[in-house]
Amino acid sequence: MPEPPVRIVTKNFGVKDSHRLGVYEGRGGFRALRKALMMKPADVTAEVKKSNLRGRGGAGFPTGLKWTFVPPGSETVYLVVNADEGEPGTFKDREILRQDPCLLIEGCLCTAWALGCHHVYVYIRGEMYEEARILQAAVDDCYQKGYLGRSVLGVGFQCDVTVHRGAGAYICGEETSLLNSLEGKRGWPRLKPPFPAVKGLFGQPTIVNNVETLANIPAIVENGGEWYAKLGMGRSGGTRVLCVSGHVQRPGVYELRMGIPMREVIDEVCGGVRDGRRPRCVIPGGSSMPPLDESELDVPVEFDALMTDARIKDVEVAPGVKFDVGGGKPLKTMAGSGAVVVLDDRTDLVAACARLMRFYAHESCGQCTPCREGTGWLARVCTRLADGHGRKGDSALLASIAHGIAGNTICPLGDAAAWPMLGFLTKFRADFLAKEPQ
Ligand SMILES: Cc1cc2nc3c(=O)[nH]c(=O)nc-3n(C[C@H](O)[C@H](O)[C@H](O)COP(=O)(O)O)c2cc1C
Ligand code: SF4
Repeated sequence: MPEPPVRIVTKNFGVKDSHRLGVYEGRGGFRALRKALMMKPADVTAEVKKSNLRGRGGAGFPTGLKWTFVPPGSETVYLVVNADEGEPGTFKDREILRQDPCLLIEGCLCTAWALGCHHVYVYIRGEMYEEARILQAAVDDCYQKGYLGRSVLGVGFQCDVTVHRGAGAYICGEETSLLNSLEGKRGWPRLKPPFPAVKGLFGQPTIVNNVETLANIPAIVENGGEWYAKLGMGRSGGTRVLCVSGHVQRPGVYELRMGIPMREVIDEVCGGVRDGRRPRCVIPGGSSMPPLDESELDVPVEFDALMTDARIKDVEVAPGVKFDVGGGKPLKTMAGSGAVVVLDDRTDLVAACARLMRFYAHESCGQCTPCREGTGWLARVCTRLADGHGRKGDSALLASIAHGIAGNTICPLGDAAAWPMLGFLTKFRADFLAKEPQ
């Protein structure tokens, strides 16, 4: 199996009792924090900028750049860890929380130092009961050992961590909805701007970062931004943790080199498609991302490559309906949350797509009309097609509903339903047309 150039996020996976503070310390834990506390906060941010670390929560936004959006001189700054991990197919943050909670805590502390933040909130998915318990135990141990509290490692820097459990709503993974939920309000997304970095939790500047994003920070502090950038590809530094599921021989969580071709992930890392079948459709980064077909699997798994190399063209997906989103921009796919879902050549792709659409309809918060109504329509029309009760023109109807949603909603959940719908319709149009009455 191809190895990553180095293991950063998963380096302690599989080690006995890796979740315990003593084991973490014994394996070099908290060296980075000691180094960070001797650096100027701005220098820590500069290293993270240099590292080309991009957010692992879905959007791939440059982490160091995001940190610089906090207005200089802000008195209260919050760091919020997004541990909601609700994107279908995604299960990597859960492994980090379960196997290496102290790595996340160290990443949070280095980040808090860089931001001038004294209170970190970890918003953890409600269903992750065991992980919340493991994380809380690690936080308690860190308080006892002086890594958290009034004076971190005795240098006079105060930093507290609060673990907050969500209640199982996918939308609460969206950062502004998460902040509302954390404030005790209904988990409805906020209009942006203002962005959280300027006005976030309790109206204060807030940086929201994903678990895996923050788990990379100690290695960057310890080895330098340049080292981390060189491990990666193009404008994406470091390694990539992929969680692979579906019809492969060896599904699982793998830390791999950034830019590894998708075909290598499937054939070599995961032992190929089960029962000797062929991969027909691959979701490259969580269910919100348009799928790839078999001819596109040589694409490197990297943020920019997946946006530009995938051969999605500005084609007509239905008579008169062009496959584009938002002002004529061609629709592209994304590396998203690192969740790779492989579907083999026996899969009923219309049924698979209908299942996804029912998920988005169920999870829409209902705040804005195109998403509330549109996701319901996508689910109903796609399901009737899949169940053999489709009507002539349903494929075109689906495309036009999806176009009505994309780019017209408060938060990206609407796009998250519309994009894969359009992707499935473009790449696998014949499957949809075949389900319409002839
Ligand atoms: C509907 C929806 C659900 C999301 N769920 C998650 C999630 O579970 N975990 C996560 O880290 N980011 C999630 N995001 C992305 C966050 O809004 C945000 O971009 C991310 O936490 C920023 O962290 P990063 O820059 O480290 O990636 C979601 C976004 C949307 C629109
Ligand atoms: S796009 Fe959907 S989930 Fe997002 S605010 Fe609108 S209704 Fe809610």
